[in-house]
Order: sequence, then structure tokens, then C-alpha cells
Amino acid sequence: MDYMKFPAVAGLALLLLSGCRGNSEPQPYFELTAAQARPLTDRTFETTHDRVARGEYLVEGLLRCFFCHSERDWDAPGAPPIEETMGAGGRVNVEDNLWLTAPNLTSDEETGIGTWSDDMLARAIREGVGHDGRVLHTSMDYGSFRRLSDEDLASVIVFLRSLPPIHNILPQTVLALDEQERLASRLNPITEPVAQRNLSDSIERGRYLAMIGNCEGCHTSWYSPRNPGLFGGGNIIERGNVRAFSTNITAHESGMLYDSAAFINTIQTGKGGTLSPLMPWAAYRNVSDEDLSAIHAFLQTMQPVTHYINNFAEPTSCPVCEQQHGLGDLNEVTRPEGVSIDPELLDDYVGAYRSMEYGFTIRVTREANQLVAQEDDGPVADLIPQSDARFLMDGGIAPVRFERDAAGMVTRLVSEEVEELVLDRVE
Ligand code: HEC
Ligand code: HEC
Repeated sequence: MDYMKFPAVAGLALLLLSGCRGNSEPQPYFELTAAQARPLTDRTFETTHDRVARGEYLVEGLLRCFFCHSERDWDAPGAPPIEETMGAGGRVNVEDNLWLTAPNLTSDEETGIGTWSDDMLARAIREGVGHDGRVLHTSMDYGSFRRLSDEDLASVIVFLRSLPPIHNILPQTVLALDEQERLASRLNPITEPVAQRNLSDSIERGRYLAMIGNCEGCHTSWYSPRNPGLFGGGNIIERGNVRAFSTNITAHESGMLYDSAAFINTIQTGKGGTLSPLMPWAAYRNVSDEDLSAIHAFLQTMQPVTHYINNFAEPTSCPVCEQQHGLGDLNEVTRPEGVSIDPELLDDYVGAYRSMEYGFTIRVTREANQLVAQEDDGPVADLIPQSDARFLMDGGIAPVRFERDAAGMVTRLVSEEVEELVLDRVE
């Protein structure tokens, strides 16, 4: 978009003239409840040299803020943001009835964040509520940014404040009221302090970085008819008319069996510039070798998934994710191998387990010498033992394990996801 100096009201008219489809009527805002948006506080984040440096590292690296909040050079490998537009905002997507603008994050007072408070920014970045109190669209990645520690969040904001002002008027986002209502129902304010994790442990560091970089969101096939597992790839990523399937990044021959050095090289060069710009490698290449190596180490701890995908090959049908993608026909649905365990153990595990945080229940029952699990009204899946207490769920996204209390009673079912998800035994 050009940098045009028009009064703010000209934004909508301008968009219509440029031939975009959509509603010409600005949509009303859906009023958020106290459970969806917390009140703003007057906290402020002090600027320090360390924070500005850390903020710049995060924003231009793993958090890839300028991949949406700038214009991008789609002709260059990896489609990096255009230098002169860094942070000045950009259009993200146009669907029927949806205009999505990633706003100007530079310190300009009229068109940027110059007059917004620190807590307005903090709430928007981690909790998905805009400075004006409306729900933000999830393409603003607050689902993963909510994992940011308070200190990293402060660094990001302090760095944004340091961006030189660019005057850039952009059309406002328009979301239909029912869409806003749907988004609002998933909001979850943060009211407790979020401490920094232990970053000296390489796996924990990698886990944190992978979470805030949202590797899981793109590299897991959340919307396909069948989900091959966490980080197993197969998610169709689209922006405008560019489209690619994410690939399998688990430690399997069909995924990422390569070592840390090869991983760092893949990310930093975008495989010699051949990787799709939908993989934000042109931002991740700014991540340090040490951090990339921690992400690699963490990914190698995740359950390996068998799922061949290649965006250059002719699409063929894939039984593993039930979509059409390159190398799809190399895949085959196989039952994971199990070990044999004492059948008496199985009775200990029978019961219902509930996630209080996400409000769903998994029921575990025994059929002859086989444990089966069912999530609410979902399909019934076999639990295939890997050890006395750890099982693979046929068709599940991650391994599960049963845990006992001090008295030896089985009290919890833990799903080994990016962060372990604990379900408490309720019956
Ligand atoms: C994948 C695209 C994408 C990325 C990455 C992204 N944003 Fe956004 N951001 C958006 C979009 C789109 C909106 C507007 C959403 C809406 O209006 O509903 C937005 C909105 C915002 C807002 C809210 C503005 C307001 O109205 O109050 C802030 C602040 C913001 N982003 C900051 C950031 C920061 C900081 C980062 C990096 C940590 C970031 N964004 C990364 C797309 C993105
Ligand atoms: C916005 C979506 C998106 C995000 C976020 C994302 N990826 Fe990707 N990634 C992709 C897509 C799409 C491809 C496939 C690109 C292609 O085939 O050209 C890919 C490819 C890759 C590859 C290349 C695999 C190979 O050998 O061909 C690696 C490695 C990778 N991603 C790692 C990561 C890591 C690590 C993260 C988190 C830090 C991450 N990705 C986050 C979309 C994403």
C-alpha cells in the first residue's frame, strides 16, 4: 500500500476505489465481557538498552511481527519485509466480508501507536484485545504470543516504542459481528505474572522458543480430516494466492532426521532460498545459532510421525492426513508398534480423566487385553503400550502417560504435547 497522507476517514473510501471486495459499512464492535477482556492498568515498561536489544531480536526473529505489520517484497526469496516500511503496517488477507489490517506499530501519533499506553499494547499482544477494546482476529498470533514471559513482553513493547514514526494511513479491520463473537468466546485474559522459564536448559529453552515462534500452529494438521500428530505437517498455509503445505518436522525419515547444523542451515538459508515464503524463514534466519539449536533439540524430543510431504512433487492422495499433497501416495496408515505389559495394570488405568483448563474428558475403558480411550463424543482409539505407563493413542496427536500419587493410585493422565496437558482423574 502506498504511503498516502489522507485523513483517517478516507481509509474506507480508498479501499473501495482500489477495488477490494467487502462490506462498505463499518461493522459494529462486539462488546466484550469482563471474562473476555480485563480492564487496562497504568503499568509502564522502562526502557533499557538490554530490553531494546532483546525486543529487536524477538520482533525481527521468532515473533516475525514485521511479516504482517509491513509491506513485503514478494519477489525476493522468503519475501522479507521492505526496509522502509518496517513496522508501518500492512494488509494481511482479504476474504469475503473480512478486511484484515495489521496496524502501524511505529511511534507515529496519528496513525501508529504513539498515543497508546504500554498496557494497551501488552493486552493486544498476549490477550488479543485491541487498544480500543475490541477482539482481534487470530491471524494476529496472540495464541502463541500469550506464552511470552512478562520480561520478554516488556522488551517487545520497549523496542516498538523505539521505531521511528512512519505516517501511514491504512483501512481499519472489518470483522462481521458473528465472527467477533466467535473469536471473543476464546479470549482468556492474563491476570497473573508470567515468569521467564529456565532458559539454561536447552530443551526447555527450545520448547519456549518453539511456542512463541508458533512452529506447532503451522506444522500440525489441525484442519485436515485426519491429524497425523504434532509437528507432523500437512497444514495448508495460504496468503493471498501463495499456498503451501507445511512439512513434517519430527525426527523421522519422512520429516527432519537431520542434525542441528543442517537444521540451522535450512532455516538460515531457506534451503538455499527454495523454501516457500509461507515458512517465515526470512525472519527466523535472524535467530541465533544457539536458539535454533535449542529448538532443534526440543523438536527431536517429540514423538516421530511418518508423513512424507513435498510441495514440489505432484499432489497425490494421502491416507495419513486425507488430503492431496506432493508425495501423499508414499504414506500409509499403520498401527504403531506396542510392547506387552502386565494385563493387571490395565485395570488400574480404567476411568475418566478431565482437563479442567480446557473442559474436556477422556474415558479409558478395557476391552479384553486392550485399553481404549474416547474424548467426549469423539472416535474410540486404541491405547498401544510403549512401557508400563506410557501409551500411543491410535490416531491421537501425542503420546499419553498415566501417573500415580504417593499412595500408588492412578490420579492423572498426561498428554505429552508441546506443554504437557494434565487431565485429573474424576471417577
Ligand atoms: C501473522 C500476522 C501477524 C503477526 C506475525 C503479528 N501480527 Fe499483530 N496484528 C496482525 C493483524 C492482522 C492485526 C489486526 C487484527 C484485527 O484488527 O482484528 C494485528 C494487530 C496487532 C495489534 C493491535 C492493534 C490494536 O488495534 O490495538 C498489535 C499491538 C500488534 N498486532 C502487535 C504485534 C506484535 C508486537 C507482533 C510480534 C510480536 C505482531 N503483532 C505479530 C497480524 C500479525
Ligand atoms: C506461518 C506458518 C509457519 C510457521 C509459523 C512455521 N513454519 Fe516451518 N514451514 C512452513 C511451510 C509452509 C513449510 C514448507 C515450505 C516449503 O515446502 O517450501 C515449512 C518448512 C519448514 C522446514 C523445512 C523442512 C524441510 O526440510 O523441507 C523447517 C525445518 C521448518 N519449517 C521449521 C519450522 C520451525 C522450527 C518453526 C518454528 C520456529 C516453523 N517452521 C514455523 C510454515 C511455517
